[in-house]
Amino acid sequence: MSEKDAQAMIPISIDEFVEGISVPADLYLRLGDKKFVILQKAGQKASRERLGSYKDKKVNYLWVQKEAYSRISQQNITLAGLVIDKSTVNLDKKSTILSAASTSIFTNLEHVGASPVIFNDAKQITEATLGLIENHNRLTQLIESFSQSNDAFVNHSLAVSAISVMIGQAMGWEKRVTLEKLSLGGLLHDIGLKTLPPELLKKPLAEMSYEETQIYETHPYKGMILLQSLGVVPDDITSIVYEHQENRIGQGYPQRSRDVKQHPLGKVVAVADQFCYLTMPGVNNPEPRSPREALMYMEFTMGQPFNRDVFRALKVVVSGQPLSNAG
Ligand SMILES: [Fe+2]
Ligand SMILES: [Fe+2]
Repeated sequence: MSEKDAQAMIPISIDEFVEGISVPADLYLRLGDKKFVILQKAGQKASRERLGSYKDKKVNYLWVQKEAYSRISQQNITLAGLVIDKSTVNLDKKSTILSAASTSIFTNLEHVGASPVIFNDAKQITEATLGLIENHNRLTQLIESFSQSNDAFVNHSLAVSAISVMIGQAMGWEKRVTLEKLSLGGLLHDIGLKTLPPELLKKPLAEMSYEETQIYETHPYKGMILLQSLGVVPDDITSIVYEHQENRIGQGYPQRSRDVKQHPLGKVVAVADQFCYLTMPGVNNPEPRSPREALMYMEFTMGQPFNRDVFRALKVVVSGQPLSNAG
C-alpha cells in the first residue's frame, strides 16, 4: 500500500485498456482518499479477463501517476494510427482504440491542464478518424460502434467528428484539409462542456433551471476561449466550436445568428451534432432514435432549422445514396 496524493494520480477507465497491449505505466487500485495499491508494473499486458474481474467488483477505474499518463495517451494515439487501415481488425475494436485515444485528450485537459499537446493529439486522432471512415462507411454500424464505451461525451465527440466528415463528403468537398477541419472541429466542438460543473452535465437539459440553462449555453464560448488560449488552433476550428449550437433560423445560441453569418464548416458540425445527439445514448436520450427516425425528427418535429444543403447531405449519408439521387 502506498500513500499518494490523489491530485498526483489520474483515473483511467478500464474500458480504455486494449487486450494484449502492454501498459507503459504502473497501474494502481484506489482504496481510499490517499490509498493506492499497485496492481501491475509497467510493461505488463492488459488482460480482458483480469480487468473484467475488477469491473465485476464495480471497479471502473485504475489509476496511474500523473507523470506517467502521457506515455499511456501517446501509446493510445499511436495505436489508433496503426490499426485503422488494418482489415484484420474489426470496426468495434478500432472504435475502442480510437475512443481510448480521444479520451486521453479530455483526461489531459481535466487532470494535467490545457496545453498545445491537446491540439496535437487531436490532430493525430483526426487522421485516424478519416482513415476509419475510408475503411468503414456504413453509418449505422459506425454509430453503433461509437456508442460502446461508458463515456458518452467521448462517444458523442468522436461520432460528431466522423459524421461531419461524411456530410462534408456528401456535399462534394474533397480537399483533405477541409475534411480534417471538419473532423477536428467535430471532435473538439463540445470541449467547453469540460469547463462546466460535472453535476450540471449529469442533468437532462429539460430538467435544468433557467440559470443552469444559461450556464450550459456558455459552452460554445468557453470552448472557443479555451482553444484560443492554446495559441496553436486555427480560426476555422474555433469558429466551428463557437457556432456549433447556432442554426439557420437564428434560434440557436450563443449569438442567435442566422445562416448567412455562419461559418460553412460550423453549419455542418451543427447538423452532425444534432443528429448524433438523437441517435446515441446520453443523459438526454435514454432511448436513441434510428438514423431515419432522427432525420424525421429534425425535419418535421424541429421544423428543419438547419442549413438546407447540409441537411440534404445528411439525408444522402443516411440513405447511403449518391448525391444526385438525393431529394
Ligand atoms: Fe454543444
Ligand atoms: Fe455536441
